Amino acid sequence: MINVTKVYLPNKEKYKKYIDEIYENGWLTNNGPLVQRLEKRLAEYLGVKNIVLVSNGTVALEIAYRTLGLKGFVVTTPFSFVATTSSLMTNQLLPIFADIDPNSFNLDPKNIEKFITPNTSAILPVHVFGNACEVEEIEQIADKHNLKVIYDAAHAFDVKYKGQSVLNYGDVSTLSFHSTKLFHSIEGGALIINDDELVQKARYLINFGIKSPEEISELGTNAKMNEFEAAMGLCMLDDIEEIKLQRKNILYNYRKQLKDLVQFQKQNENATENYSYFPVVFENEAQLLKVQKALNEKDIFPRRYFYPSLDILEYIEPKQECKISREISKRILCLPIFAGLESDVQQKIIEIIKENI
Ligand SMILES: Cc1ncc(COP(=O)(O)O)c(C=O)c1O
Repeated sequence: MINVTKVYLPNKEKYKKYIDEIYENGWLTNNGPLVQRLEKRLAEYLGVKNIVLVSNGTVALEIAYRTLGLKGFVVTTPFSFVATTSSLMTNQLLPIFADIDPNSFNLDPKNIEKFITPNTSAILPVHVFGNACEVEEIEQIADKHNLKVIYDAAHAFDVKYKGQSVLNYGDVSTLSFHSTKLFHSIEGGALIINDDELVQKARYLINFGIKSPEEISELGTNAKMNEFEAAMGLCMLDDIEEIKLQRKNILYNYRKQLKDLVQFQKQNENATENYSYFPVVFENEAQLLKVQKALNEKDIFPRRYFYPSLDILEYIEPKQECKISREISKRILCLPIFAGLESDVQQKIIEIIKENI
């Protein structure tokens, strides 16, 4: 069976060496030495000042909201994974959806301002499929209205904008290190925070708000990454360049062979790509369903990312409608892309798509 992605497992012997280290020092969690080592190596690799590792990307978003003290309404995109929106709602924040750009699939900066009210505390864009948002335009809007910006950068591991990490934009960027991601730590996530004082606050928040053994300074939670996860992250980091190279070749081959048949995501020209997803947009939903069925019959399972558009979620009141997001979400399919995808299998996928369009 070929899925949209395949979990990358690094060399077992290398992972075992880290496990031996964990057994020797008996430190399993609570900011252990491997978590500290991974934080340091990731900060260097990504080119960011401060990184706080956490247990997953959803909790990274929640900690970001609490670190920044958000209240009221947050302008965000309906074209994302459900966690972008549900994490707001479980923190008593209301998502206000602004529509996306039909080509980049990212929150369209020109749609943001009309939704800003005195109750708005932040903007929450997503670098969808690792495609960098229009970060400078978003920054201008946020500065003008004195709003915080949190980037859900779950897909944007190692993306550069104008030569520096895109994660350095906004007040906080969050990453997901879920097993299905380009870089993973089994489960995991991170916050990239520019302000040093806020980094300290986030560190208290992920550890029950405990400031020192006898002082609790914040209303915190438990969001810590453990040592086994950090060990996986350290192994992954050794292989990440090779993983990216393999994905890049697959992505370029799809692009070359499918360019006259489907719509691609328009990449931000000022940013690099990380080859984490390969979304294609069909002419209509019927065409997508036909291709999906033909692929499924051959045991190939692309994913309808993101479907449905989050503005149709029943639990969100008041009801909102973003036409472009709804339209794209009906027609978009993410094709299999992962290190180890064999070229004959990719060719089969391409042929099936060609035959069914
Ligand atoms: C855009 C986006 N945000 C947030 C998340 C949540 O991350 P996690 O699964 O690590 O909680 C995901 C996960 O797939 C995602 O794709």
